[in-house]
Amino acid sequence: MKMRAAVLEEFGQPLVVQEVDLAEPRSGEVLVRLEACGVCHTDLYTASGADPSGYAPAVLGHEGAGVVESVGPDVTSLSPGDHVVTLFSPQCRECVHCVDERTNLCMAIRAEQGLGHLPDGTTRLSRDGEEIRHFMGTSTFAEYTVMPEIALAKINPEAPLDRACLFACGLSTGLGAAMYTANVEPGSTCVVFGAGMVGLGAVAGCRLQEAERIVCVDLSDDRLEMARAQGATDVIKASGDTVEQILEMTGGFGADYTFEATGLVKVMEQAVESARMGWGLCTIAGVAGKGETLDVIPRWLITGRRIAGSSFGGVKGRDQVPELIDRYMNGEIDVDPFLSHQLTLDEVNKGFDLMEAHDGIRSVIKFN
Ligand SMILES: NC(=O)c1ccc[n+]([C@@H]2O[C@H](COP(=O)([O-])OP(=O)(O)OC[C@H]3O[C@@H](n4cnc5c(N)ncnc54)[C@H](O)[C@@H]3O)[C@@H](O)[C@H]2O)c1
Ligand SMILES: [Zn+2]
Ligand SMILES: [Zn+2]
Repeated sequence: MKMRAAVLEEFGQPLVVQEVDLAEPRSGEVLVRLEACGVCHTDLYTASGADPSGYAPAVLGHEGAGVVESVGPDVTSLSPGDHVVTLFSPQCRECVHCVDERTNLCMAIRAEQGLGHLPDGTTRLSRDGEEIRHFMGTSTFAEYTVMPEIALAKINPEAPLDRACLFACGLSTGLGAAMYTANVEPGSTCVVFGAGMVGLGAVAGCRLQEAERIVCVDLSDDRLEMARAQGATDVIKASGDTVEQILEMTGGFGADYTFEATGLVKVMEQAVESARMGWGLCTIAGVAGKGETLDVIPRWLITGRRIAGSSFGGVKGRDQVPELIDRYMNGEIDVDPFLSHQLTLDEVNKGFDLMEAHDGIRSVIKFN
């Protein structure tokens, strides 16, 4: 079929919205008509050429939500009409990681996904016979996408898809960091560094876990206000002595749980140093620049602090994204404030501009 999609043609250049070909879903694959897609930093990171594993031409986009249009052979868990959220982090439910509670890093299709292929090693995207590669296994800056069944979460059909799409990446990453990776205990003290989509999600996750005190740190007063609305009990304007301020607020000890959601290694260090001696757990969600390293004085660890990394918030996508969306539908998560701009597919590059200008939390592309 023919469809419109935003193609990364050349690194550092605007995406080009154009007509491309999309082939029918093969075994285990599903054709999804996209309704909405968030614009995320990872799309911009790849489009800019900064990502060393990036490739072109490719259709970008990974924060998608839509409706199943048709299914290929051997698909058992989805049917036409189902509402789905796309998962760059799939869940096959069979591999060594999927059957273990400790991780969400499914091994089933990692290698081919990283190369821009569907699991059988080929692409469904093309243009005049020339192959176009998939991005993050999702390629959701497009009217339609073909994806493996194991990378689609079936959600409550009542959930508005322009809100649901935020659960495809940033929001679930933040919520999950608090709920699944750290598994925050009720009554604890938490500190969240960064109040973007991920940090605000972590604040909401700490609140859902019934943390008693939730401190949020950011450079922007507006974002700190948003953090309060998500459940932060205290806010700190970021500075060189943030760690001292946190120690002061916590009787000199530091917090039970800290979360890093900026991608800056200096802030990661602050998050480690703000974790409480004895048992403080620092969860790192931010993605640092290529080659950057985190400096940790071993004494911080000997004295009982722990550091964890979290990809997609530790969320097992097919099982837990639907659960998170149900909690949103129950009124437990306030998603509306995160949706700052609504764009058309043709305006996708404006989404990058808004992100670079720190204007709003998320721009969402709405199709048709
Ligand atoms: N682990 C994952 O699976 C995953 C998924 C999505 C995003 N990410 C990463 O998470 C990070 C955050 O993503 P986002 O969409 O929320 O980004 P964002 O840019 O919207 O938010 C980052 C926030 O950090 C704040 N900040 C900057 N310097 C600071 C400082 N010194 N102290 C405190 N706050 C500071 C900024 O003001 C901003 O509000 C990025 O690195 C992104 O790549 C990771
Ligand atoms: Zn993302
Ligand atoms: Zn798996």
